[in-house]
Amino acid sequence: MMLAERCEAAGEYPSAGPSGVSCSPDPDALRGDNMVHPALESLSEPLLRRLLQELGRQASVHRFEVAPNPCVGAAILAAGEIVGRGFHQAWGGPHAEREALAAAALSGVPASEWDTLVVTLEPCSSTGKTGPCVQAILEAGIPQVVVGALDPDPRHRGKGLEELRAAGVQVHLLEGFSTLEDVAPHFLSWNAPDRIRRPRPWTIAKWAQTRTGQLTPPEHVGEGRWITTPASLNEVQVLRGRVDAIVTGVGTVLADDPRLTVRPPGDIARAPRRIVLDTALLTPPDARLFAQPGPGEAGGPVTIMTVAGMDAPRARALQEAGAEIVGLHAGPFGHVALRDVYTWLWEAGVRRVMLECGPTLLRRHFDAEFVDQLRIYTGSVNGGRGPSMADSLQSIKLRERLDREQGEDAVLEAFVG
Ligand SMILES: NC(=O)c1ccc[n+]([C@@H]2O[C@H](COP(=O)([O-])OP(=O)(O)OC[C@H]3O[C@@H](n4cnc5c(N)ncnc54)[C@H](OP(=O)(O)O)[C@@H]3O)[C@@H](O)[C@H]2O)c1
Repeated sequence: MMLAERCEAAGEYPSAGPSGVSCSPDPDALRGDNMVHPALESLSEPLLRRLLQELGRQASVHRFEVAPNPCVGAAILAAGEIVGRGFHQAWGGPHAEREALAAAALSGVPASEWDTLVVTLEPCSSTGKTGPCVQAILEAGIPQVVVGALDPDPRHRGKGLEELRAAGVQVHLLEGFSTLEDVAPHFLSWNAPDRIRRPRPWTIAKWAQTRTGQLTPPEHVGEGRWITTPASLNEVQVLRGRVDAIVTGVGTVLADDPRLTVRPPGDIARAPRRIVLDTALLTPPDARLFAQPGPGEAGGPVTIMTVAGMDAPRARALQEAGAEIVGLHAGPFGHVALRDVYTWLWEAGVRRVMLECGPTLLRRHFDAEFVDQLRIYTGSVNGGRGPSMADSLQSIKLRERLDREQGEDAVLEAFVG
């Protein structure tokens, strides 16, 4: 029996608490004191439950694109009919409520007839990459809102509901049918107390490997460098346009001389910072990272993270080439300390990182448990050079794994831990 049914049988109501979802004997406290709007009476609770479940399922399809944001689905109703649905589909993109409002605007049903917004998660009341959804709902003049779950972040929890109620909107909390445990468990780990206490950006490790898990192909394949098809490379460009920073190691800079720029189909309006972890400042000042991006491509500022007090002449030469030099503590084995790197990035406003590096730095990230999400492309290439990532992968716990195909490449996406 589902939790919602168990609660119903006990005459109680499902609610989320610090120890997970449980049955609460106090449904009125959760629902609020507002009188039920006549339009809601015409919407049966089973219909709303089904709608919340359906919106949650549809929203979670976008989980790897939106994380660490939550997967959220929303629908606008007019006299019991859905006139628009929307989903948060990409990190930095519009929230589900705004997408649903835009879809409803295209439906031909006048906004004056929209009577209900159903949304799987409490609407945001603060300004992030987009304006607060509470404001968009108020501007649309929707008289009632049905919410499937409260924001788990204690700093925001309940605020969106309060603001809507204060503005005269009827707000109903119908918990237990699109729970974050089901729809967006990654958002619960993002909001876990120790993550809030010691924040660090969400880190997506992306790499391409041969069938044997090696990150460098045999010399005679792909100019000794390329493993995957152009379609996969295009996907990576899209991902680059959806992160705040790309982190790499000096080993990759010396071997590949990458630009780490964003090119179409990636969003060149959002070029991420380029971060090189380079303890001994071995990055050449004439590396392509410092070249002017070509037409139609964009490159974010370059920061080289080293151990404080490193070779001053080298640091000067790199600064003259255009790099910012950041001196941090040394961590294990004398390399730049990863905790310092990620604390610095967080303080610089970076929230979503793509790790595009070789096996050395990848393994250090896995050892330090600093990887939140994976995107691994396996090309149809046999053999390869350098260490295989196969062992590291076997020792990692993958959640919500998705295996898909991209032409000849196999793609694995998952959350870690
Ligand atoms: N297939 C792919 O997706 C892909 C992607 C990138 C690279 N590659 C390949 O990977 C190869 C390079 O591998 P790699 O392992 O040498 O490169 P890497 O992992 O990018 O860089 C390793 C270097 O990072 C530096 N580093 C700084 N802080 C560190 C820390 N906390 N922990 C560990 N290292 C730290 C270390 O040098 P210092 O201690 O001197 O700082 C280390 O030698 C190349 O062949 C390249 O083509 C493949």
